[in-house]
Amino acid sequence: MKIAVIGTGYVGMVTAVCLADLGHTVIGTDVVPEKIDKASRGISHIYESGLEELLKKNLKRGNLSFLHDLDETIRSSEVLFVSVNTPQREDGSADMVYVEGVSRRIAENLNSYKVVVEKSTVPVKTSLWIKRTIDLHKKSDVEFDVASNPEFLREGTAVSDFLHPDRIVIGVESERARDVLVEIYKKFKDRLLVTNIDTAELIKHASNSFLALKISYINLISELCEKTDADVELVAQGMGMDPRIGDQFLRAGIGYGGSCFPKDIRALAKIGEDLGVSFDLLKEADKINLKRIDIFVDKIKNALWILKDKVIAVLGLSFKPETDDIREAPSIKVIQRLLEEGATVRLYDPKAMENLKQVFPEKTPQVHYAKSPYDAVEKANALLLITEWDEFKEMDLKKIKGLMANPIFMDGRNIFEPAQMRELGFDYYSIGRK
Ligand code: NAD
Ligand code: UGA
Repeated sequence: MKIAVIGTGYVGMVTAVCLADLGHTVIGTDVVPEKIDKASRGISHIYESGLEELLKKNLKRGNLSFLHDLDETIRSSEVLFVSVNTPQREDGSADMVYVEGVSRRIAENLNSYKVVVEKSTVPVKTSLWIKRTIDLHKKSDVEFDVASNPEFLREGTAVSDFLHPDRIVIGVESERARDVLVEIYKKFKDRLLVTNIDTAELIKHASNSFLALKISYINLISELCEKTDADVELVAQGMGMDPRIGDQFLRAGIGYGGSCFPKDIRALAKIGEDLGVSFDLLKEADKINLKRIDIFVDKIKNALWILKDKVIAVLGLSFKPETDDIREAPSIKVIQRLLEEGATVRLYDPKAMENLKQVFPEKTPQVHYAKSPYDAVEKANALLLITEWDEFKEMDLKKIKGLMANPIFMDGRNIFEPAQMRELGFDYYSIGRK
């Protein structure tokens, strides 16, 4: 099967590399030339565990390549996975401008039957627009199909998620497209769910929104815990022991970030609104999530009173561990608020520092990029833990305390035990527990 992956970002890179690893012949393409240049040399422009090894392996094997030329990529492929970005517009809807642009290019290069696969997260009914766009712009009578194959990988475990999926959803409207996609994923035939396209599109938005809802729910419960003697960790454990609820995505914290939950929950609310179905439920979950930052910053103020001229160490800048992705990372909002209050921040992350420098350049007054967690906490009046990297779980806490001016520790992810932290002499604050 000759496959093109159009848009080699976080999803596209993993898709291209993993489809090649499954034995298909894959060409990846992107509008950003550096991404293609790097990938061709076996270098991934994103950090994702195991990705670069598989990239190198499949480049060497000869069934994976990267091309700048989108037209040539389309013409020489039978299946086109479209994994371009679908960012949020001001009104909350998904911006489909990149999907539309690619659809036109596909129309102009339709030289043989092709299956156009929506890999990006798109609003339900997008396939109709893609079909209409290709029909409007195509220059020949060549047939094509549109299909949906939403992606469920999580950053940080993307390669493993792709190669060991819980489910593969395929939305199709023709036998021909169905056969093509079933063949591509034949290794996972016991986990295939074949539906119509609207259903497949909706499964993606419904899943992400449900997970975001679950996180906001436990975060709201954590607020209640803080006003009582309840412990959110044990509440979550007790809830999660019921298999109908499940124990995943019940970790209270500083709120969800990333390029997907925040935008997808808003996109589904907007889709509902446009179709006359009220999704205030999701809007509330979004509000709860936004409030997590206020609550966290208030906690810092309650501990330090005035933030002006205080030195604050921030550990964990990516939106979650094991990725360099900082899109919608809670760290950015917290740092912005600290800087507005006149604090100096000392920042550290194992992988996301270079990306954060695009937001807060190195020369920004009162911003210092540290070389290690220990360097970050030097003479700090408080330490904020925003992302739960393993490196932080393994820190020498005695050394950390010794380096700080004041041992105030704000754990935004509940990675330490309160009693143990107090024994070590920290003024320790966490989420939803005393
Ligand atoms: P991304 O921004 O990292 O990647 C998108 C890529 O598309 C970029 O490299 C961009 O340069 C490229 N692109 C844009 N227009 C193009 C064009 N005309 N031709 C070729 N390339 C083009 O975004 P992402 O995180 O990979 O997400 C892509 C889609 O997948 C989104 O719809 C997202 O919601 C969805 N998704 C993301 C994840 C995730 O974990 N990041 C998981 C599942 C689904
Ligand atoms: C999420 C989904 O889990 C994927 O299935 C989906 O494919 C992807 O979005 C997408 O569509 O982009 P991702 O955003 O990479 O994946 O990472 P998650 O592990 O879901 O975490 C998202 C955010 O929620 C992070 O900020 C994380 O810290 C937070 N989170 C997660 C919590 O606060 N509590 C939890 O219990 C779980």
